[in-house]
Amino acid sequence: MSIIFNEKQKTFSLHTKNTTYQMKIGNLDYLIHTYYGPSIPDEDVSYQIKQYDRGFSGNPIESIQDRTFSLDAQPQEFSTYQQGDFRTSSMEVVNADGSMVFGGKVKDYRIKTGKFTLDGLPTCFATEKDTVDTLEITLADPVSLVEVTLLYSVFEEKDIITRSTLVYNAGSGTIHLRKIMASCLDFTNGSDKDIVSFPGRYGQEKQVERMCVNHHIHRFESGRGSSSHQQSPYLILCDHDATEDFGTCYGMAMMYSGNFLAEVELDQYDQLRVQMGINNKNFNFLLEAGERFTAPEVVMTCTEKGLTGITHIYHDFIRSNLNRSKFMHEERPILINTWEAVFFDFDDKKLVEVAKAAKKMGVEMLVMDDGWFGKRDNDKSGLGDWFVNRNKIHCGLHDLVKQVNELDMKFGIWFEPEMVSVDSDLYRKHPDWAMEIPGRDAIVSREQLALDISRRDVQDYLIESVNAILDDANIAYMKWDINRSVTDLWSNALASERQGELAHRMVLGLYRIMDGIIKTHPDILFEGCSGGGGRFDLAMLSYYPQYWSSDNTKPIDNLKLHYGASFLYPPCTQGAHVSDSTAYVPFDTKAVIAMGGTFGYELDATHLEPEILAGCQKMSKRFKKYFKLISEGDYYRLTNPFSTGNFTAWQSVSKDKKESLLSIVITNQTVNGPQEYVKVKGLDKDLQYTVSGDIAGSVIVSGAALMRVGIPVPRDVQDYSAFQIEIKA
Ligand code: DGJ
Repeated sequence: MSIIFNEKQKTFSLHTKNTTYQMKIGNLDYLIHTYYGPSIPDEDVSYQIKQYDRGFSGNPIESIQDRTFSLDAQPQEFSTYQQGDFRTSSMEVVNADGSMVFGGKVKDYRIKTGKFTLDGLPTCFATEKDTVDTLEITLADPVSLVEVTLLYSVFEEKDIITRSTLVYNAGSGTIHLRKIMASCLDFTNGSDKDIVSFPGRYGQEKQVERMCVNHHIHRFESGRGSSSHQQSPYLILCDHDATEDFGTCYGMAMMYSGNFLAEVELDQYDQLRVQMGINNKNFNFLLEAGERFTAPEVVMTCTEKGLTGITHIYHDFIRSNLNRSKFMHEERPILINTWEAVFFDFDDKKLVEVAKAAKKMGVEMLVMDDGWFGKRDNDKSGLGDWFVNRNKIHCGLHDLVKQVNELDMKFGIWFEPEMVSVDSDLYRKHPDWAMEIPGRDAIVSREQLALDISRRDVQDYLIESVNAILDDANIAYMKWDINRSVTDLWSNALASERQGELAHRMVLGLYRIMDGIIKTHPDILFEGCSGGGGRFDLAMLSYYPQYWSSDNTKPIDNLKLHYGASFLYPPCTQGAHVSDSTAYVPFDTKAVIAMGGTFGYELDATHLEPEILAGCQKMSKRFKKYFKLISEGDYYRLTNPFSTGNFTAWQSVSKDKKESLLSIVITNQTVNGPQEYVKVKGLDKDLQYTVSGDIAGSVIVSGAALMRVGIPVPRDVQDYSAFQIEIKA
C-alpha cells in the first residue's frame, strides 16, 4: 500500500518510488502539510514546524493560552478561510447565514485501492500495470456544516500524485462557492525556489519564463473561457540552482480547459504556498443543501533529476495514463492540411488534385480544413451550420472521401463546434443559444459568438450534427478548433443568481460534447486546436492524442514553441507542419523542426518545385523511420533557443538506450567562430555507438565519449542549416 496512516503520529504518508508526501492531523485537528519531496521513511517530520508568538497572527480561541499557534504560520494542506490565515485561501465561501468563513478540521478519512474519478470531468487512469491507491480526507466546518474532501491518487511506480477537491453542502441552506482550489501545497521555506511558467500569445504559445519566487502573490490565470494562449495551467517549482539535469523540481499541471488560477505566494516568514484551481474571477457557484461541487484534477510530480526529470515523468504519464485514444501509441498518418495552401478557396476537384499531388510527397491523409460547410467562403459566416456546402463539394462528402480513399489516402475534416457565426442559419433560428447579455451589444470576435454549451439542447445539437457528418463518410481524422475567447457570460437557461456558474458549466458542457463525439468514434484520430495552441492543456490531451501547436509555422519560431511545450508535452502530441512560410529557411530544416512534433504539411501540393517535392519524399520517409523513436523515446533539450547560442539541439533516446536521434539547427553561423560541441544525453556509457546521418561518413564511439566529449557541431554551413544525426548501438 502506497498510503500509510500512522495512528500514533497521526500522519498520512504517501509514497511513490522516489518521493514522499506527508500530512498530519495537527493541533486542534487542523490538517497540516509536513512534506513533499524526495523519499523519506514513514516518520513524522512535523518537528521542522516551529511555532512562535507572531504579532498580528491571531490564535484560535481554543488555544488561547498558546499564543504560538496560529494558522497564519502553519503549513496547511488546504487552507482555512477567515480563520487567521491571511495567505491566499484555498476556498472562499458565503455560508447560508451570510458569514464568509471555513474552518475545516479533519472529520474522517478513507484509504482505497484504485484511482478516483470525478463527475463530469476528465481524469487520468491506472493501467493494468499500475499500482494506484487513493486517499480521501474530509475536513468539516462544525458550524456551517460545509465539508471539503481532499482526494489523492498515488501512482507508485510513476512518481505521480494526483489531487482534487470536493465540496459538499451538508447544511440546510444554500451556500455560494466563490473560490475553489484543486490543490494547495505549502512549504515551510520557499525562499530558495524558482517558478517556471509558460506564458504566450496567439502565434507564440508556450514561451518559457523562470523567475525567483519573492514576497508577492504571483497569479497565473486565464479568464478567457479556455486555458488560453496567454498562460498555462502548468507550473514547475524548482530550486534556484536546479538545471536540466540536477536539482529538486516539482511539477503541477491541472486537467482543466477553462478559467484557471495558479497562485504562488511567498509569505512574510518565507513560507511558500502554491495552489491551482478554478479562477475565482466571474465564479460564484450555488450549492443547495445536499449538493456537491467537484474541482478538476491536478497532476503533481517531484524529482531530484532537474527539469529533464520532470519532463520524462510527464511525457511517460501522458502517453500511458492520460490519453485513452488508440492513436497515442500508433503510427500517425502523415497529413497535408489545406488551410495555409488554399484557405477558403477550394472545391471537391481541387481537393482531389491536392490529394493526388500529395500522395507523391509521401503524404497519407488529406485534411479538408475550414470552409466546407454552410455558407462559408470566408471567416465571416456559416459557423454552426454543419451541413456540406454543395456549391463547393459538388459530389457530396461521401463521394469526395471515396475518391480520396481510392488514391489510398485517408480523409480528415475540420470543425469548430462551440461557435456560431452571426451570419448563419443556426443563429437566425436560435439566437438564444449564443452568448449575449440581454440589453447589451455583444463582443464579436472573427464575427462569431460563442455558443452557450452549458445548455443540454445545444450540447445535443452539436453531438448530433457533428456525428452525422462523421458517420456519413469514411472520416479518419477530425481537427476540433475554437477561435475566440469567451465574453458576454450569460445563459438564457440559467437563473440570474446562477450566472456565476456559467463559465464552469460551459467547460463541463464541452466535456460532455467531447464524450459524445470522441468516445463514440474510437477509430477517428482527433486533433485539438484553438487558433493554434490556445487550449493545449492536459484535459484536452486526455481526449485528443495531438494538439495543433500554433498557427505560426515559421520554423525558427517553432524551435521556441516546441522547446516550451516539451517541458510537459511529448513530441507525439504537438501538431507541427512544414509550410511555405519563411522562404529563406531551407526545406529540410523546416522538416527537421516539424519532426519535433507530429509532422505533416500545410502547403499547396499541386505547385511544388521539383527539389521541394524531392525534399518532401526524403523527409516523409525519414519521419516514418524515426516515428517510434521520436514519439515513444525520452526527449532531451540540449540547448535553450531563448538564449543567445548559435544553434538549437534536441534529442530522442529509445528506452533501451540503443538508439538516438540528435537534431541540430544552426541559427547563427558565426564567421570564423570557435568549434562548438553538443554533449548528447541518455546513452549507455559502456555501449559503442555508430554515429551517422547528415554528416560526412560515420564514426564508432562509446556512449561515454558522446556524452562527455560531445559531437562537433557542423561549421562553415549556411545559416539555418539543419542536421539529423543517428546514434545507434
Ligand atoms: C485556426 C487554426 O489554427 C488554423 O489551423 C485553421 O484551422 C483556421 N483556424 C481555420 O479557420
